[in-house]
Amino acid sequence: MHGPRSLFAIIVSAVLGTSLVQAASNMVPDYEVKLLMNATAVLGTDNKLTATVLSTFGMPTTVTKMNVQFLDKSNKEIYNAGWSPRIRKTEDEDDFELTYKKRYTVTSGNIDAALTTANTEGFDSTDTNYDAQIEWGYQKQTLSISRKKSASGSGYSGMDLPGQSKSRTFLIDNAPGKFDDWLSNGWGTTALASARIFGPVLAKRSIGTWSSLQIYIEVWPIKDSAGTGIEYIVEASFKTTSRTTAATKQADLIALLTNKGWFLAQDSLKTQLIMDRY
Ligand SMILES: *[C@@H]1O[C@H](CO)[C@@H](O)[C@H](O)[C@H]1NC(C)=O
Repeated sequence: MHGPRSLFAIIVSAVLGTSLVQAASNMVPDYEVKLLMNATAVLGTDNKLTATVLSTFGMPTTVTKMNVQFLDKSNKEIYNAGWSPRIRKTEDEDDFELTYKKRYTVTSGNIDAALTTANTEGFDSTDTNYDAQIEWGYQKQTLSISRKKSASGSGYSGMDLPGQSKSRTFLIDNAPGKFDDWLSNGWGTTALASARIFGPVLAKRSIGTWSSLQIYIEVWPIKDSAGTGIEYIVEASFKTTSRTTAATKQADLIALLTNKGWFLAQDSLKTQLIMDRY
């Protein structure tokens, strides 16, 4: 696909000769390593992290709650186009955080190839409103490019999220152009106008320290595949701006979790599970 910028570049190049129009460089991502933990091994009967897990990562017993929902048409048209519009309420924050996230698969660990694909589709280093992140799992990596907005939480209490109608309005009113015009002009907001809620999921986050990094462990109670019960997804994660640190510490954390009997050797597919089960 050629975005307006690259089409313009092609026309200008054609008129003026050749290399007068310099392509913008790729976005520079940060890295978030996300590894699954075995819920049976790390949660107590109260479905909270055990004291041993908390002390291993210097975590207090207090958690931060996050309530999350996605919007999409029932046929998942938006998700299938690689986008995820999300609304999140975080405990102790007044407003809702709106996120429009575009995913790119990283094939065979080739992060730069994914960044180049994103560049050809209009996401380059001049795009300072968007953040690029490599979500680095066990065996899989995904490039996500996201734009954050906020919407007023006034009139809502506790961890409440807006209902379907207000969720559509918030996400339509704040939709960035690249999302809205992704497949055709106004595609995104047209899809949102008939979208429903996928979720919500009320997750709990613990924050600690490991190997000089801030580490998070999140517990996500997601509807199980039968749709009758809850499956707890437990994810440990840390962020870094360094690709080398991401690679080394990912291996170190896998080793630690394996050694403790806490590692679940699978890639995390939280968003996919929410889109499939709600
Ligand atoms: C998860 O932990 C439980 C309890 O330690 C263990 O019985 C089970 O085999 C583990 N599951 C996986 C997939 O590793």
